[in-house]
Amino acid sequence: MIYLDHSATTKPNKSVLETFVQANERYYANPASLHQMGVETNTLLSRAREQIAAIIKTEPEQIIFTSGGTESNNFAIKGLARANKHRGTKILISAIEHASVEESAKALEKEGYTVEKVQVNEYGVISIEDLKKKLTKDTVIVSIMHVNNEIGALQPISEIARIVHENSRAFFHMDAVQSFGKIPVHFAGEEGPDALTVSGHKINGLKGTGFLALRKQVNIETIIHGGGQEMGLRSGTVAVPQAVALAKAVRMAHETQPAHEEQFSQWRDDLHAFLQQFPYVRTLSSNNGAPHIVSCAVQGLRGEILVNAMQHEGFIISTSSACSSKDHSISHVVKAIEIDPSYEKGVIRISIGEGITEKDIQAFKIAFKKVMMQVKEF
Ligand SMILES: Cc1ncc(COP(=O)(O)O)c(C=O)c1O
Repeated sequence: MIYLDHSATTKPNKSVLETFVQANERYYANPASLHQMGVETNTLLSRAREQIAAIIKTEPEQIIFTSGGTESNNFAIKGLARANKHRGTKILISAIEHASVEESAKALEKEGYTVEKVQVNEYGVISIEDLKKKLTKDTVIVSIMHVNNEIGALQPISEIARIVHENSRAFFHMDAVQSFGKIPVHFAGEEGPDALTVSGHKINGLKGTGFLALRKQVNIETIIHGGGQEMGLRSGTVAVPQAVALAKAVRMAHETQPAHEEQFSQWRDDLHAFLQQFPYVRTLSSNNGAPHIVSCAVQGLRGEILVNAMQHEGFIISTSSACSSKDHSISHVVKAIEIDPSYEKGVIRISIGEGITEKDIQAFKIAFKKVMMQVKEF
C-alpha cells in the first residue's frame, strides 16, 4: 500500500520511537520530584523545551506541552479569550478553521463572546477586506490557520499579523498543524502570530503530543486545573518521554523542511497538471497552496467511492479530511469555497509526506486514470 494520507496522520519516525523508548527506560521519574532521578528527568524536559523554543524562536517558558493540536487550539482560544475579556468579547476565525478552533470559539458563545467568520475566496484564501471590516476594537482573539487541512489553502500570515497588531489589541493565534515542517513558519516579531499550535503526529512524531507556543509573556488562563505543572498552565504529571520525542520530531521536521517543500511542490504541481486533463475533475488545491496537499472533486461521484477504488489499486487517500470522513455531510470548507453543487460530494485529498517517491506519484497517476475509466468513462 502506498500511503498518501499524511495530512490525517504520519508514521512515527524510527528515531522518534527510539528516543521515546530510551526516555521511558531511563527517565521515568516524575520531573516535579525533588530526588536525583526527578531532577535528571526535569533537566531532560527543560532541554526538550529549549530545543523547540530555539527552533520556534521564543523563550522556553513560552512553550507549553499539550496532547496535540486539538488541545492547543482549545487552550489558545479559551485561555486567551477568558484571561483577556477586558479587551473585548469578539472572536474572529476564518470560515475554514479546523473543528477544534471552530468548536472552541462556539463554546465561548455561552460565556458571552460573539464569534464572526472571515470569508474566503474559491481557493480558501481569506478576504483581507472582510478581516479589516470585522476586526473591531472589541476583538479579543483572531484565529486563522496557516495551511488548511482539507484543501491546502495557504494564508498571508504576515499581512494578517500586521493588520491585527496595527488595528486592534487582539491576539493572533495561528494553527500551524498542517504547515510546520512543510513550509517556513515565522513566529518572531510583529509580523508573526502571538500564539502557535503544533501537533506531533503530523510531523512523524507521536500521537498525543503537541505544544502551544506563545510569542511573549501574555495573560492566558489554564483549561486544565490541578497541580500547576507546565508553569501553572497545564496541570498533570508531565509526559517527559512524549515531550522529548516531540522535540526530536520537531528538530527533524525543521531540518527536512526545505528539501521536502521543494520536492513535494514539484509533485503537487505535477498532480495538478495531471488532474486538469479530466474534464469532470476540479482541483480545489492550487500551486500557490501547501506543498503536500492535493485536493480535487469529481463531478457526480462520492468521495468514498473513489477512496475505496483507489485503495483497491493500492493507494491510501482520503475524502476531504479524516475528521469529516465518517459523517457523510459536506464539509464546511467545501461549502465555504462555494464549488458547484455537482462536485461537492466527490472531494478527495491526496497528501504527500516522508517516504513517498517519484515512482509512487507516477504509479498514482496510472491508478487514478484506471479508476476514472471504470467509474466515469465506462
Ligand atoms: C489544521 C488542524 N488543526 C488541528 C488538528 C488537530 O490536531 P490533533 O489531531 O493533534 O488533535 C488537525 C488534525 O487533523 C488539523 O489538521
